[in-house]
Amino acid sequence: MSSAEEYSKGLAGIYVAKSSICTVGVKGAGLNYRGYDIKELAANSTFEEVAFLLIYGYLPTEEELLGYCRTLSSLRDIPGALKDCLERIPASAHPMDVLRTGCSILGTLEPESPTNNQFQIANRLIASFGSMLLYWHHWVSSGKRINCLTLAEDSTAKHFLKLLRYDGQEPSALHVRAVDVSLILYAEHDLAASSFAARVTTSTLTDFYSSICTAIGTLRGPLHGGANEAAMHLLAQYSSPDDAESGIMKMLAKKELIMGFGHRVYRNGDPRNPIIKEWSKRLANEQGGNMKLFEISERVEQVVFREKKMFPNLDFYSASAYSQVGIPTLFFTPVFVISRTTGWASHIIEQRSDNKLIRPSAIYTGPESRPYVPIKERK
Ligand code: SDX
Repeated sequence: MSSAEEYSKGLAGIYVAKSSICTVGVKGAGLNYRGYDIKELAANSTFEEVAFLLIYGYLPTEEELLGYCRTLSSLRDIPGALKDCLERIPASAHPMDVLRTGCSILGTLEPESPTNNQFQIANRLIASFGSMLLYWHHWVSSGKRINCLTLAEDSTAKHFLKLLRYDGQEPSALHVRAVDVSLILYAEHDLAASSFAARVTTSTLTDFYSSICTAIGTLRGPLHGGANEAAMHLLAQYSSPDDAESGIMKMLAKKELIMGFGHRVYRNGDPRNPIIKEWSKRLANEQGGNMKLFEISERVEQVVFREKKMFPNLDFYSASAYSQVGIPTLFFTPVFVISRTTGWASHIIEQRSDNKLIRPSAIYTGPESRPYVPIKERK
């Protein structure tokens, strides 16, 4: 028990739970999901396999994975009442607010119950968040009511890209795999702010949807999941690597934050960064890629490291990767939601399995105790 004089701002370096889900930078090691190294998962796995691993705790057999993919495919359509509500959300709304609202409405239509348990809701949200976002997007941008179902065998990544384009064209295999790997990388990250927020909410024994709504609201911020969108806005300002160098130097001189850089836990690099950077480069080398954007990104990385010894986190090169597969910037953090719903679900399930209300204390710094003054006597 820390004394009333010691406290850690932002809970930096404080352990608040035991968890069997993920290791982030433990003793300088990399990132593991339930013991499997992220590098191996990114190279050999699929998002659906990783989602199963995180939620159920083990890597599925081929048969289990096939069944799980079928389950997710069967959960992609959204109820008419939810479509009606989505159509009332203005085009000016932030897509993260669309997902937070969609989650809340689905929770009223398909409430948690003994026949609609935490595992079923987790899979329902993972499968339908893309549908919610893109149904709203096509409605507000073109008045089109899209069919949220694509081929049953489509992966989560392919389903998203197909609904995004909605032009009957097959997204390229490279684009699909790039998004699939990004979903693996974004899936889980220990007690990141949004996962911790979900656990705090869960610890009151509220419903699953409420915990996910908390997490979405928390991820939205630019210091957390919103950083991938903020990084894209930063990169889009520059016309060349030299222009970027000059701009970043000005920002650093004014002590401004460079979005997509730094991390609370990783101090020597984010193990996810080399993987997503390689995918951004692969996309840039392909026909239709944006090599200039990649080169600008690399220059920003070089300058920030040279001047501040800071490194990119996963959000930085996710920006150029998502931009190159045609995902609009405002949809970057919603894609993070689709993926991290797996991590949030695993934390909610774990919190419920060994719960204690999460309620820390604050060191009081307010006025000493003083007598009440009747309003007539106040000056
Ligand atoms: C994610 O927690 C997770 O695991 C999150 C995540 C996940 O997968 O869930 O990894 C995803 O959220 C990654 C982080 C995305 N956010 C950003 O990229 C926003 C920019 N980064 C910073 O805001 C910052 O690095 C944080 C918030 C990520 C971490 O901040 P800390 O640990 O609270 O560190 P700090 O703000 O106290 O910074 C220490 C120093 C400060 O300088 P001084 O005041 O000591 O002089 O480093 C500086 C900061 O100004 N600094 C930066 C910087 N990040 C820190 N300076 C310029 N640019 C930056 N990006």
